[in-house]
Amino acid sequence: MNTAQRRRVHPKHAITRAGAAVCLLAAAVTRAFGQWVLAAHAMPCKACHEALFNAFAQTAHFKTSAEASAQSVKGSFADGHNVLRTGVAGIYFKMERRRGAFYQTGADSARSTSRTERIDLVVGSGRRGQSYLYWKNGLLFELPVSYLAGIDQWINSPGYTDGEIDFARVIVPRCLECHSTSFKLKQERRALQYSRDYELGISCEKCHGDGHQHVQYQSSHPAEPRGKYIINPAHFSRERKLDNCALCHSGLREQIRAPFTYRPGEKLDDYLSPASDAPIPDVHGDQVGLLRRSKCFRSSATMSCSTCHDVHRPQRDLAPFASKCLACHQTSQHPMAAKIGARMITSCIDCHMPNQRSNAIQITTPTRQSSLSFRSHAIGIYPEVAATILQSGRER
Ligand code: HEC
Ligand code: HEC
Ligand code: HEC
Ligand code: HEC
Ligand code: HEC
Ligand code: HEC
Ligand code: HEC
Repeated sequence: MNTAQRRRVHPKHAITRAGAAVCLLAAAVTRAFGQWVLAAHAMPCKACHEALFNAFAQTAHFKTSAEASAQSVKGSFADGHNVLRTGVAGIYFKMERRRGAFYQTGADSARSTSRTERIDLVVGSGRRGQSYLYWKNGLLFELPVSYLAGIDQWINSPGYTDGEIDFARVIVPRCLECHSTSFKLKQERRALQYSRDYELGISCEKCHGDGHQHVQYQSSHPAEPRGKYIINPAHFSRERKLDNCALCHSGLREQIRAPFTYRPGEKLDDYLSPASDAPIPDVHGDQVGLLRRSKCFRSSATMSCSTCHDVHRPQRDLAPFASKCLACHQTSQHPMAAKIGARMITSCIDCHMPNQRSNAIQITTPTRQSSLSFRSHAIGIYPEVAATILQSGRER
């Protein structure tokens, strides 16, 4: 197996460099061990919060990272669907499944070289897409081929150059801080490595803190109706509520303190450099920055992410979101009520929180540059969007 490695990596350097963790749409533990990890961190809460837990297990948060398995990997390994050709003659990628494991091979047939790595971890629930990681020398690296859900196809990983076989991009901790519950860094012979006792998926303790004392107390006081020794973000100030989500939803920020040390309720600015003062935050990954710019947020004292989102269950229907707006607004007072008519509820979100293209994610295919759209959290008036919706008569 030959290596077409163009760039040398200096892991120690690369792994601590915070800025590289762009979410450009971007495990060698056995599967049994992976499942044990999942069970261990999820079960203590499930025992008493079963309904809530079962709903949460269906969310994008919970599914945002996983060991590679037939369920978690969304891309197809079937013949005819498992090759990604590039614009460079002779250079292609092949995705294969062998004995329950999954592999990516980058091949350069002109030079008769190829490199194969196993798909160990999956990042991304698959709503829009997934990227894949492999273990090497205690570090995680990104694989060159990702999956895009919209077209149901393999693509060059976001930010990668078409026709280059690049297996050398190390995964920085910040990437995992946003897409998992925990990863520990350990010093191994003067080099930093990831320890193998990690927790994939975003689980309860990411937003509620360590639950050990709560579990212990509630177990030994089964008659106690109130929950004790557990953080409930509902009691935070608005700024700390936002911080709890901003850890992962306020765009690219430089790390001031070590990753995985932030605890719910703390001031996030002590951990990450102030949010970027880019004139317009990107719709990808910066919902906090955009919401802050909206009049709704600025003119109300209490609006936070939880005003509209219940993170414990999947929420995809748009109409129920419109009812959240109506806690503060009235359709009868809408300046365009007559013109909008019956579409008032069904198009409410599309008119005032339109889907907009992200500038942060670049996907290169042999034939074109692709981009992805996200729901803008700059709630506001978008006259052209509204005009188009009214003209087309489309419902959504
Ligand atoms: C032995 C049973 C038990 C276990 C295990 C348990 N809880 Fe609870 N929890 C309760 C009870 C009882 C309440 C109070 C009633 C309610 O809010 O459902 C509660 C309340 C809560 C509250 C609200 C607290 C408040 O201030 O309003 C949160 C948050 C919470 N639990 C999170 C968790 C998390 C996270 C886990 C897993 C680490 C967990 N619980 C495990 C029994 C348990
Ligand atoms: C992404 C962050 C996040 C995750 C993950 C999360 N929660 Fe919550 N949880 C919250 C927030 C925020 C609130 C407060 C909501 C509010 O303001 O009403 C909350 C409130 C609660 C409450 C109080 C009762 C209620 O429904 O308002 C319980 C109980 C609870 N969570 C349990 C859990 C359990 C168990 C898990 C894992 C299965 C979990 N949470 C995962 C953010 C989270
Ligand atoms: C540890 C990082 C992290 C925290 C903390 C976090 N999120 Fe997320 N959130 C993510 C990631 C990553 C995704 C994308 C998951 C995926 O599709 O793979 C996401 C997705 C979402 C989505 C889209 C869900 C869907 O169905 O596609 C919503 C809504 C959301 N987050 C709201 C919140 C709110 C509200 C909070 C705070 C209470 C919060 N998040 C806290 C990382 C986080
Ligand atoms: C600052 C937090 C953050 C970092 C760092 C980050 N992401 Fe994300 N990522 C998100 C959020 C939030 C979403 C979904 C919501 C959005 O795009 O606004 C997301 C979405 C994704 C998705 C699409 C999931 C889906 O199914 O829709 C993939 C794949 C992904 N990220 C991979 C990565 C990889 C790989 C890295 C590191 C190399 C990374 N991300 C770094 C926060 C982050
Ligand atoms: C917590 C209360 C609250 C919620 C929830 C809320 N808003 Fe607002 N919104 C306000 C306030 C307050 C203003 C400012 C009103 C004013 O200045 O007269 C406002 C202003 C607006 C404006 C005018 C914006 C501008 O730039 O002039 C629009 C449009 C709007 N809201 C739409 C929505 C939509 C759509 C939703 C639901 C997705 C929503 N709002 C949810 C409180 C809220
Ligand atoms: C006024 C209501 C409202 C508030 C407040 C709000 N959201 Fe949303 N959010 C929505 C709606 C509506 C959607 C679209 C739902 C969908 O398509 O899945 C959405 C979608 C999202 C998504 C998925 C975006 C995408 O296009 O994939 C994320 C992530 C998210 N919200 C995070 C947040 C965070 C973090 C906060 C707090 C800073 C927040 N939201 C505050 C209404 C709101
Ligand atoms: C077809 C698109 C469309 C739909 C659907 C729609 N709006 Fe609007 N809305 C607009 C436009 C355009 C304006 C600006 C009108 C103007 O200034 O004359 C506006 C203005 C507003 C304002 C500012 C009012 C003011 O007095 O300045 C609010 C608040 C608002 N909308 C809330 C909502 C809510 C809440 C919903 C859904 C329940 C909704 N809108 C549905 C297009 C829409």
